[in-house]
Amino acid sequence: MKALPRIGVLVSGRGSNLAALISACACGDLPAQIALVISSKPDVPALAIAATTGIPTRVVAPKSYASRQAEGAAIVAALQEAGVELVVLAGYARLFDPGVIAAYRWRIINIHPSLLPAFAGSMAPGPQAAALAAGVKFAGCTTHFVTEATDAGPIIDQAVVPVRDDDTVASLADRILAAEHRLLPASVAAVLAGAVTVIDGRRTQRRVTQGSGADARD
Ligand code: GRF
Repeated sequence: MKALPRIGVLVSGRGSNLAALISACACGDLPAQIALVISSKPDVPALAIAATTGIPTRVVAPKSYASRQAEGAAIVAALQEAGVELVVLAGYARLFDPGVIAAYRWRIINIHPSLLPAFAGSMAPGPQAAALAAGVKFAGCTTHFVTEATDAGPIIDQAVVPVRDDDTVASLADRILAAEHRLLPASVAAVLAGAVTVIDGRRTQRRVTQGSGADARD
């Protein structure tokens, strides 16, 4: 039997998207193996989630390295040592050194809690708060390939949720998060299936395949 593709997941906190990826792998919706979880912070819930399911973990904390370049080199070394083919940023609160992006060009996926390019550039709950403050009627989340420009790489997929008149930042963030938990595993599956092609380095085209996540937008 062919070995499952190995993915690496980078986290910094709560880990609910990591949990969604683990569930999707377990039920077969995401035909992949999570080979390594790297956290930029020690003692975060995401590390505990990985450990309880037996996934190897590493902490690569910025303060342990003299430069962002050295931190990036440590990340690439850990990913390569684990045989990781595709990297998923699931609530990872660091910007990568360009060396990491070059080592995994078009093989790093991020999820952002807004309909990019709107409300780019800050961590949750910044984008959700900004959406509410702007009075938009629809919000959502975006999966995209990571490039050197923050939150601006080619969009893989998006999921839309309504904004209600009585929403708080917390209630809107919860609604978006539920959509994230469907969108991220579906996007990773689509990329692994070879169904997502980057055009001109700026946008993507999707070949619809069974299980490629085309139904993740409901
Ligand atoms: C999510 O909202 C994700 O979109 C953003 O950070 C948050 C991480 O949440 N990048 P969790 O750690 O996956 O629960």
